[in-house]
Amino acid sequence: MDVDLIQVVNKLQETFTAIGGDSVDLPQIVVVGSQSAGKSSVLETIVGRDFLPRGSGIITRRPLVLQLIHTPSAKDQAKQSLKPSPRSYDLSDDHAPDMSRGGSNGSSLGGGRTNTYEEYGEFLHLDKRFTDFNEIRREIENETFRVAGQNKGVSKLPIHLKIYSPNVLNLTLVDLPGLTKIPVGDQPSDIERQIRNLVTDYVSKPNCIILAVSPANVDLANSDSLKLARTVDPQGRRTVGVLTKLDLMDQGTHALDILTGRVYPLKLGFIGVVNRSQQDINGNVSMLAARRAEEEFFRSHAAYKNIAHRCGTKYLAKTLNQVLMSHIRDKLPDMKARLNTLMGQTQQELAAFGDTTFLGDQHRGSLVLKLMTQFARDFVASIDGTTFDISTKE
Ligand code: GDP
Ligand code: NA
Ligand code: MG
Repeated sequence: MDVDLIQVVNKLQETFTAIGGDSVDLPQIVVVGSQSAGKSSVLETIVGRDFLPRGSGIITRRPLVLQLIHTPSAKDQAKQSLKPSPRSYDLSDDHAPDMSRGGSNGSSLGGGRTNTYEEYGEFLHLDKRFTDFNEIRREIENETFRVAGQNKGVSKLPIHLKIYSPNVLNLTLVDLPGLTKIPVGDQPSDIERQIRNLVTDYVSKPNCIILAVSPANVDLANSDSLKLARTVDPQGRRTVGVLTKLDLMDQGTHALDILTGRVYPLKLGFIGVVNRSQQDINGNVSMLAARRAEEEFFRSHAAYKNIAHRCGTKYLAKTLNQVLMSHIRDKLPDMKARLNTLMGQTQQELAAFGDTTFLGDQHRGSLVLKLMTQFARDFVASIDGTTFDISTKE
Protein backbone atom coordinates (compact mmCIF):
# COMPACT_ATOMS: atom_id res chain seq x y z
CA MET A 1 0.00 0.00 0.00
CA ASP A 2 1.31 3.38 -0.96
CA VAL A 3 0.23 5.93 1.63
CA ASP A 4 1.66 9.41 1.73
CA LEU A 5 1.33 9.80 5.47
CA ILE A 6 2.33 13.43 5.61
CA GLN A 7 -0.33 14.34 3.06
CA VAL A 8 -2.89 12.42 5.11
CA VAL A 9 -1.80 14.04 8.35
CA ASN A 10 -1.91 17.50 6.77
CA LYS A 11 -5.43 16.79 5.59
CA LEU A 12 -6.46 15.69 9.05
CA GLN A 13 -5.02 18.84 10.52
CA GLU A 14 -7.02 20.97 8.10
CA THR A 15 -10.15 19.07 8.95
CA PHE A 16 -9.72 19.54 12.66
CA THR A 17 -8.92 23.22 12.16
CA ALA A 18 -12.06 23.60 10.04
CA ILE A 19 -14.30 22.16 12.76
CA GLY A 20 -12.47 24.16 15.43
CA GLY A 21 -11.30 21.08 17.26
CA ASP A 22 -7.90 20.01 18.50
CA SER A 23 -8.51 16.32 18.81
CA VAL A 24 -5.31 14.97 17.35
CA ASP A 25 -1.93 16.26 18.41
CA LEU A 26 -0.25 16.17 15.02
CA PRO A 27 3.51 16.36 14.56
CA GLN A 28 5.03 19.58 13.25
CA ILE A 29 8.52 20.92 12.77
CA VAL A 30 9.03 24.04 14.84
CA VAL A 31 11.85 26.47 14.08
CA VAL A 32 13.46 28.17 17.08
CA GLY A 33 16.45 30.41 17.55
CA SER A 34 17.59 33.81 18.71
CA GLN A 35 16.91 36.88 16.61
CA SER A 36 18.99 36.96 13.43
CA ALA A 37 20.12 33.34 13.88
CA GLY A 38 18.90 32.69 10.35
CA LYS A 39 15.47 31.11 10.96
CA SER A 40 13.67 32.94 8.17
CA SER A 41 16.55 32.30 5.80
CA VAL A 42 16.43 28.55 6.53
CA LEU A 43 12.67 28.46 5.95
CA GLU A 44 12.95 30.37 2.70
CA THR A 45 15.67 28.17 1.33
CA ILE A 46 13.66 25.05 2.20
CA VAL A 47 10.74 26.52 0.24
CA GLY A 48 13.04 27.89 -2.44
CA ARG A 49 11.26 31.25 -2.58
CA ASP A 50 11.48 34.67 -0.95
CA PHE A 51 8.25 35.32 0.88
CA LEU A 52 8.95 36.09 4.54
CA PRO A 53 8.90 39.63 5.94
CA ARG A 54 12.29 40.92 6.97
CA GLY A 55 13.92 44.01 8.33
CA SER A 56 15.56 45.03 11.56
CA GLY A 57 14.05 44.32 14.96
CA ILE A 58 11.36 41.79 15.73
CA ILE A 59 9.63 40.87 12.50
CA THR A 60 7.97 37.57 13.26
CA ARG A 61 5.38 38.38 15.91
CA ARG A 62 2.86 35.64 15.29
CA PRO A 63 3.51 31.94 14.74
CA LEU A 64 3.46 31.09 11.04
CA VAL A 65 2.22 27.59 10.38
CA LEU A 66 3.65 26.82 6.97
CA GLN A 67 2.39 23.75 5.21
CA LEU A 68 4.45 22.76 2.18
CA ILE A 69 2.61 20.63 -0.32
CA HIS A 70 4.41 18.95 -3.15
CA THR A 71 2.53 19.22 -6.44
CA PRO A 72 3.52 17.54 -9.68
CA SER A 73 5.19 19.76 -12.25
CA ALA A 74 3.46 20.34 -15.59
CA LYS A 75 5.81 17.79 -17.11
CA ASP A 76 4.94 15.17 -14.50
CA GLN A 77 1.27 15.94 -14.96
CA ALA A 78 1.47 15.36 -18.67
CA LYS A 79 2.95 11.93 -17.94
CA GLN A 80 0.36 11.28 -15.23
CA SER A 81 -2.62 12.20 -17.37
CA LEU A 82 -2.33 8.90 -19.19
CA LYS A 83 -2.94 7.03 -15.96
CA PRO A 84 -6.26 6.77 -14.12
CA SER A 85 -6.55 9.44 -11.44
CA PRO A 86 -5.91 8.31 -7.86
CA ARG A 87 -8.59 8.08 -5.21
CA SER A 88 -9.24 11.44 -3.61
CA TYR A 89 -11.26 12.56 -0.63
CA ASP A 90 -14.30 14.79 -0.91
CA LEU A 91 -12.77 17.24 1.52
CA SER A 92 -9.66 17.78 -0.52
CA ASP A 93 -8.74 20.94 -2.35
CA ASP A 94 -7.55 20.51 -5.87
CA HIS A 95 -3.93 19.73 -5.19
CA ALA A 96 -3.15 19.79 -8.84
CA PRO A 97 -2.40 23.30 -9.98
CA ASP A 98 -5.16 25.03 -11.89
CA MET A 99 -3.41 26.90 -14.65
CA SER A 100 -6.30 29.11 -15.62
CA ARG A 101 -6.52 30.52 -12.10
CA GLY A 102 -2.80 30.60 -11.51
CA GLY A 103 -2.16 32.77 -14.52
CA SER A 104 -4.99 35.18 -13.92
CA ASN A 105 -2.98 37.99 -12.36
CA GLY A 106 -0.72 38.27 -15.36
CA SER A 107 2.57 38.41 -13.49
CA SER A 108 2.93 34.66 -13.24
CA LEU A 109 3.00 34.23 -16.98
CA GLY A 110 5.60 36.93 -17.52
CA GLY A 111 8.92 36.09 -19.04
CA GLY A 112 7.74 32.76 -20.38
CA ARG A 113 8.90 30.91 -17.27
CA THR A 114 7.36 27.50 -17.15
CA ASN A 115 7.02 26.81 -13.48
CA THR A 116 5.84 30.05 -11.86
CA TYR A 117 2.14 29.30 -12.09
CA GLU A 118 2.68 25.94 -10.47
CA GLU A 119 3.79 27.57 -7.22
CA TYR A 120 1.25 29.40 -5.16
CA GLY A 121 0.24 30.15 -1.62
CA GLU A 122 -3.08 30.16 0.21
CA PHE A 123 -3.89 31.55 3.64
CA LEU A 124 -6.50 29.98 5.87
CA HIS A 125 -7.92 33.44 6.69
CA LEU A 126 -8.41 34.46 3.04
CA ASP A 127 -10.15 32.95 0.05
CA LYS A 128 -7.48 33.84 -2.46
CA ARG A 129 -4.70 32.15 -4.38
CA PHE A 130 -1.37 34.04 -4.28
CA THR A 131 0.98 33.45 -7.19
CA ASP A 132 3.06 36.53 -6.41
CA PHE A 133 5.28 35.72 -3.44
CA ASN A 134 5.83 39.42 -2.71
CA GLU A 135 2.11 39.62 -2.11
CA ILE A 136 2.39 36.70 0.32
CA ARG A 137 4.98 38.68 2.26
CA ARG A 138 2.71 41.74 2.37
CA GLU A 139 -0.24 39.64 3.52
CA ILE A 140 1.83 38.13 6.36
CA GLU A 141 2.82 41.66 7.39
CA ASN A 142 -0.78 42.90 7.25
CA GLU A 143 -2.07 39.95 9.21
CA THR A 144 0.67 40.43 11.81
CA PHE A 145 -0.30 44.07 12.29
CA ARG A 146 -3.99 43.27 12.30
CA VAL A 147 -3.78 40.83 15.20
CA ALA A 148 -0.54 41.65 17.05
CA GLY A 149 -0.83 45.43 16.67
CA GLN A 150 1.76 48.03 15.75
CA ASN A 151 3.59 48.12 19.09
CA LYS A 152 5.92 45.14 18.50
CA GLY A 153 3.89 42.93 20.80
CA VAL A 154 3.52 39.24 20.00
CA SER A 155 0.37 37.19 19.55
CA LYS A 156 -0.09 33.48 20.04
CA LEU A 157 -2.67 33.35 17.26
CA PRO A 158 -1.01 31.61 14.32
CA ILE A 159 -1.12 32.58 10.65
CA HIS A 160 -1.79 29.51 8.48
CA LEU A 161 -0.13 29.49 5.06
CA LYS A 162 -0.02 26.68 2.54
CA ILE A 163 2.50 26.69 -0.25
CA TYR A 164 1.94 24.40 -3.23
CA SER A 165 4.96 23.75 -5.37
CA PRO A 166 6.69 21.07 -7.44
CA ASN A 167 9.90 22.18 -5.74
CA VAL A 168 9.12 21.31 -2.13
CA LEU A 169 8.93 18.16 -0.07
CA ASN A 170 5.85 17.64 2.04
CA LEU A 171 6.54 19.30 5.37
CA THR A 172 4.71 21.33 7.97
CA LEU A 173 6.94 23.98 9.51
CA VAL A 174 6.21 26.54 12.19
CA ASP A 175 8.15 29.82 12.25
CA LEU A 176 8.21 31.54 15.62
CA PRO A 177 9.39 34.91 16.93
CA GLY A 178 13.12 34.98 17.70
CA LEU A 179 14.25 34.62 21.30
CA THR A 180 15.31 38.02 22.64
CA LYS A 181 17.17 39.16 25.73
CA ILE A 182 16.21 42.79 26.18
CA PRO A 183 13.37 44.89 24.80
CA VAL A 184 14.38 47.37 22.11
CA GLY A 185 12.54 50.42 20.80
CA ASP A 186 8.92 50.35 21.84
CA GLN A 187 8.79 46.65 22.67
CA PRO A 188 6.92 45.79 25.85
CA SER A 189 9.18 45.27 28.88
CA ASP A 190 8.16 41.64 29.25
CA ILE A 191 8.83 40.75 25.60
CA GLU A 192 11.44 38.12 26.50
CA ARG A 193 8.98 36.27 28.71
CA GLN A 194 6.16 36.59 26.17
CA ILE A 195 8.25 35.08 23.40
CA ARG A 196 9.73 32.38 25.60
CA ASN A 197 6.26 31.32 26.71
CA LEU A 198 5.02 31.27 23.14
CA VAL A 199 7.95 29.20 21.90
CA THR A 200 7.76 26.88 24.90
CA ASP A 201 4.07 26.27 24.18
CA TYR A 202 5.00 24.93 20.77
CA VAL A 203 8.14 22.96 21.55
CA SER A 204 6.89 21.31 24.72
CA LYS A 205 4.38 19.22 22.78
CA PRO A 206 5.99 15.79 22.80
CA ASN A 207 4.85 15.44 19.22
CA CYS A 208 6.88 18.38 17.97
CA ILE A 209 10.20 18.19 16.19
CA ILE A 210 12.44 21.08 17.17
CA LEU A 211 14.58 22.70 14.52
CA ALA A 212 17.09 24.47 16.75
CA VAL A 213 18.89 27.12 14.71
CA SER A 214 22.25 28.38 15.96
CA PRO A 215 24.67 30.68 14.15
CA ALA A 216 28.12 29.09 13.74
CA ASN A 217 29.86 32.40 14.49
CA VAL A 218 28.56 32.37 18.08
CA ASP A 219 29.83 29.86 20.66
CA LEU A 220 27.43 26.91 20.79
CA ALA A 221 27.50 27.10 24.57
CA ASN A 222 25.55 30.36 24.22
CA SER A 223 22.94 28.98 21.85
CA ASP A 224 19.48 30.08 23.01
CA SER A 225 17.76 27.54 20.81
CA LEU A 226 19.70 24.58 22.22
CA LYS A 227 19.20 25.80 25.77
CA LEU A 228 15.47 26.03 25.24
CA ALA A 229 15.29 22.73 23.36
CA ARG A 230 17.11 21.02 26.20
CA THR A 231 14.49 22.09 28.72
CA VAL A 232 11.75 20.24 26.84
CA ASP A 233 13.84 17.54 25.15
CA PRO A 234 16.64 16.83 27.64
CA GLN A 235 17.81 13.70 25.86
CA GLY A 236 17.92 15.34 22.45
CA ARG A 237 15.55 12.84 20.87
CA ARG A 238 13.42 15.22 18.82
CA THR A 239 15.77 18.13 18.22
CA VAL A 240 17.52 18.70 14.89
CA GLY A 241 20.44 21.11 15.18
CA VAL A 242 20.89 23.57 12.32
CA LEU A 243 24.14 25.48 12.15
CA THR A 244 23.89 28.64 10.02
CA LYS A 245 26.50 31.21 8.96
CA LEU A 246 29.32 28.68 8.54
CA ASP A 247 30.72 31.13 5.98
CA LEU A 248 31.09 33.78 8.68
CA MET A 249 33.34 31.82 11.03
CA ASP A 250 36.74 33.23 11.81
CA GLN A 251 39.50 32.33 9.38
CA GLY A 252 41.12 29.06 10.33
CA THR A 253 38.23 27.84 12.47
CA HIS A 254 35.51 25.37 11.48
CA ALA A 255 32.58 23.49 12.97
CA LEU A 256 33.39 19.95 11.88
CA ASP A 257 33.29 18.66 15.47
CA ILE A 258 29.80 20.05 15.97
CA LEU A 259 28.54 18.73 12.63
CA THR A 260 29.85 15.24 13.35
CA GLY A 261 28.19 15.16 16.78
CA ARG A 262 31.29 15.29 18.94
CA VAL A 263 30.37 18.50 20.80
CA TYR A 264 26.68 18.40 21.61
CA PRO A 265 24.61 15.23 21.70
CA LEU A 266 21.53 15.25 19.47
CA LYS A 267 20.17 11.93 18.23
CA LEU A 268 19.03 13.55 14.99
CA GLY A 269 22.33 15.38 14.57
CA PHE A 270 23.46 18.77 13.31
CA ILE A 271 23.20 19.97 9.73
CA GLY A 272 25.28 22.89 8.52
CA VAL A 273 23.88 25.42 6.03
CA VAL A 274 25.01 28.58 4.30
CA ASN A 275 22.19 31.02 3.63
CA ARG A 276 22.33 34.24 1.68
CA SER A 277 24.08 37.10 3.42
CA GLN A 278 22.35 40.46 3.74
CA GLN A 279 24.54 41.64 0.89
CA ASP A 280 23.33 38.72 -1.27
CA ILE A 281 19.74 39.63 -0.47
CA ASN A 282 20.28 43.31 -1.23
CA GLY A 283 21.95 42.31 -4.49
CA ASN A 284 19.01 40.03 -5.42
CA VAL A 285 21.09 36.85 -5.53
CA SER A 286 18.59 34.16 -6.55
CA MET A 287 17.74 31.13 -4.44
CA LEU A 288 19.14 28.86 -7.09
CA ALA A 289 22.44 30.72 -7.23
CA ALA A 290 22.58 30.69 -3.44
CA ARG A 291 22.06 26.92 -3.30
CA ARG A 292 24.75 26.34 -5.88
CA ALA A 293 27.12 28.56 -3.93
CA GLU A 294 26.23 26.63 -0.78
CA GLU A 295 26.97 23.28 -2.42
CA GLU A 296 30.25 24.62 -3.73
CA PHE A 297 31.12 25.96 -0.28
CA PHE A 298 30.85 22.52 1.33
CA ARG A 299 32.42 20.63 -1.58
CA SER A 300 35.49 22.80 -1.69
CA HIS A 301 35.99 23.45 2.04
CA ALA A 302 38.96 21.57 3.47
CA ALA A 303 37.13 20.73 6.72
CA TYR A 304 33.72 19.85 5.22
CA LYS A 305 34.41 18.22 1.86
CA ASN A 306 34.27 14.70 3.35
CA ILE A 307 30.83 15.31 4.85
CA ALA A 308 29.54 17.59 2.05
CA HIS A 309 26.87 15.03 1.13
CA ARG A 310 25.20 15.53 4.51
CA CYS A 311 25.47 19.29 4.63
CA GLY A 312 23.36 22.03 3.11
CA THR A 313 19.78 23.08 2.62
CA LYS A 314 18.82 20.28 0.26
CA TYR A 315 20.01 17.64 2.68
CA LEU A 316 18.23 19.45 5.52
CA ALA A 317 14.89 19.39 3.67
CA LYS A 318 15.29 15.71 2.87
CA THR A 319 16.23 14.86 6.46
CA LEU A 320 13.25 16.77 7.82
CA ASN A 321 10.91 14.88 5.57
CA GLN A 322 12.32 11.55 6.76
CA VAL A 323 12.25 12.59 10.40
CA LEU A 324 8.64 13.66 10.07
CA MET A 325 7.71 10.40 8.36
CA SER A 326 9.21 8.18 11.03
CA HIS A 327 7.75 10.39 13.74
CA ILE A 328 4.28 10.01 12.25
CA ARG A 329 4.78 6.27 11.95
CA ASP A 330 5.63 6.11 15.66
CA LYS A 331 2.48 8.05 16.51
CA LEU A 332 0.12 6.07 14.32
CA PRO A 333 -1.26 3.72 16.98
CA ASP A 334 -2.17 6.68 19.17
CA MET A 335 -3.69 8.66 16.31
CA LYS A 336 -5.70 5.66 15.26
CA ALA A 337 -7.13 5.24 18.75
CA ARG A 338 -8.13 8.91 18.90
CA LEU A 339 -9.69 8.78 15.46
CA ASN A 340 -11.70 5.72 16.37
CA THR A 341 -13.11 7.53 19.39
CA LEU A 342 -13.84 10.61 17.31
CA MET A 343 -15.50 8.52 14.64
CA GLY A 344 -17.77 6.91 17.20
CA GLN A 345 -18.81 10.32 18.54
CA THR A 346 -19.29 11.73 15.07
CA GLN A 347 -21.48 8.87 13.97
CA GLN A 348 -23.71 9.40 16.99
CA GLU A 349 -24.03 13.07 16.12
CA LEU A 350 -24.79 12.21 12.53
CA ALA A 351 -27.49 9.81 13.59
CA ALA A 352 -28.99 12.63 15.63
CA PHE A 353 -28.94 14.96 12.64
CA GLY A 354 -30.71 12.44 10.45
CA ASP A 355 -29.70 11.59 6.97
CA THR A 356 -31.40 14.08 4.65
CA THR A 357 -30.44 17.43 6.11
CA PHE A 358 -27.18 18.08 4.38
CA LEU A 359 -28.39 21.09 2.46
CA GLY A 360 -28.48 24.66 3.58
CA ASP A 361 -26.17 26.81 5.63
CA GLN A 362 -27.41 25.75 9.03
CA HIS A 363 -26.33 22.20 8.27
CA ARG A 364 -22.88 22.91 7.01
CA GLY A 365 -21.51 21.63 10.29
CA SER A 366 -23.14 18.28 9.76
CA LEU A 367 -21.76 18.10 6.24
CA VAL A 368 -18.30 18.61 7.63
CA LEU A 369 -18.95 15.88 10.15
CA LYS A 370 -20.09 13.54 7.44
CA LEU A 371 -17.07 14.17 5.29
CA MET A 372 -14.82 13.89 8.27
CA THR A 373 -16.27 10.54 9.21
CA GLN A 374 -15.73 9.27 5.72
CA PHE A 375 -12.22 10.58 5.77
CA ALA A 376 -11.47 9.15 9.20
CA ARG A 377 -12.83 5.77 8.16
CA ASP A 378 -10.59 5.70 5.12
CA PHE A 379 -7.68 6.83 7.22
CA VAL A 380 -8.17 4.11 9.79
CA ALA A 381 -8.58 1.57 7.03
CA SER A 382 -5.34 2.72 5.47
CA ILE A 383 -3.37 2.44 8.69
CA ASP A 384 -4.85 -0.97 9.37
CA GLY A 385 -2.72 -2.15 6.50
CA THR A 386 0.56 -3.57 7.66
CA THR A 387 2.96 -2.06 5.18
CA PHE A 388 3.68 1.52 4.34
CA ASP A 389 5.73 3.10 1.65
CA ILE A 390 7.34 5.89 3.63
CA SER A 391 9.94 6.83 1.12
CA THR A 392 10.40 10.54 0.66
CA LYS A 393 9.09 12.23 -2.41
CA GLU A 394 11.60 13.99 -4.58
P1 GDP B 1 16.04 35.29 11.81
O1 GDP B 1 15.90 36.53 12.61
O2 GDP B 1 16.48 34.15 12.67
O3 GDP B 1 14.82 34.96 11.03
O4 GDP B 1 17.27 35.54 10.80
P2 GDP B 1 17.25 35.91 9.23
O5 GDP B 1 17.04 34.69 8.41
O6 GDP B 1 16.36 37.07 9.00
O7 GDP B 1 18.79 36.31 9.02
C1 GDP B 1 19.35 37.43 9.67
C2 GDP B 1 20.50 37.98 8.85
O8 GDP B 1 21.54 37.03 8.76
C3 GDP B 1 20.11 38.31 7.41
O9 GDP B 1 20.76 39.47 7.03
C4 GDP B 1 20.65 37.13 6.61
O10 GDP B 1 20.99 37.50 5.29
C5 GDP B 1 21.87 36.74 7.40
N1 GDP B 1 22.18 35.31 7.31
C6 GDP B 1 21.37 34.27 7.68
N2 GDP B 1 22.00 33.10 7.47
C7 GDP B 1 23.22 33.39 6.96
C8 GDP B 1 24.33 32.57 6.53
O11 GDP B 1 24.31 31.32 6.57
N3 GDP B 1 25.43 33.25 6.05
C9 GDP B 1 25.48 34.62 5.99
N4 GDP B 1 26.60 35.19 5.52
N5 GDP B 1 24.46 35.40 6.39
C10 GDP B 1 23.34 34.79 6.86
NA1 NA C 1 16.63 34.24 15.01
MG1 MG D 1 12.93 35.95 11.01
